[in-house]
Amino acid sequence: MKKIKISLLLSCFIFVFACSHFDTIEKSGRVSESNRKSHNSGEDCMGCHNKDMTEASIKAWWNIAGTVYRNSGGLNNTARIELWTEPKAKGLKILSLNTDKDANFYTEKIINFKGGCYPVAISENDTSFMNSTFNGGGCNGCHDNKTTRKIWVSQ
Ligand code: HEC
Ligand code: HEC
Repeated sequence: MKKIKISLLLSCFIFVFACSHFDTIEKSGRVSESNRKSHNSGEDCMGCHNKDMTEASIKAWWNIAGTVYRNSGGLNNTARIELWTEPKAKGLKILSLNTDKDANFYTEKIINFKGGCYPVAISENDTSFMNSTFNGGGCNGCHDNKTTRKIWVSQ
């Protein structure tokens, strides 16, 4: 009986801990901001920032991350990424992220992808839509200029 009580107590404790950790991330999860710098533009952020026990993941665990380019080829540090439930920015907007000074966007927030969502990249005078759904985290993992061209919008 005592054993059961202890393990019950322990699992309650773990449950509470897990919840509060989730809440903390929800509230204080960092997101990319246009006035901040990062690094490794164009690389697969998740290779380092979404893996157990790497130095990068201990510092910052990204649930979504990637880089936006201009159609001229340069980095686009004034773009915005949005995720929508329907193609061509229709339905519900799940998330919006600005690129930082290194044209990277990222978030620690836990995202409900609602079974798959449609990414959109936006600049002042251009919008480009991904026509297939996305259900994960690493945008640059596909948009590596080998399997898929980089994410870009003009200007
Ligand atoms: C080769 C591994 C590696 C890759 C790839 C990588 N990072 Fe990092 N990143 C790190 C490490 C290690 C740190 C912690 C030490 C530091 O600040 O440099 C870090 C730190 C950061 C920080 C600062 C976090 C903080 O709170 O101090 C940001 C922001 C960041 N990375 C964004 C990115 C983005 C966005 C990408 C993809 C474009 C990316 N990183 C790709 C290894 C990597
Ligand atoms: C599984 C691979 C994969 C992942 C992951 C992925 N994409 Fe894509 N993306 C593609 C492919 C393939 C296309 C071209 C065909 C299409 O639109 O479906 C594309 C097209 C796009 C386009 C249209 C413009 C262009 O550059 O061709 C944008 C914008 C885009 N993706 C943004 C994103 C963002 C933002 C993420 C992360 C939230 C992401 N993608 C994750 C494969 C991927």
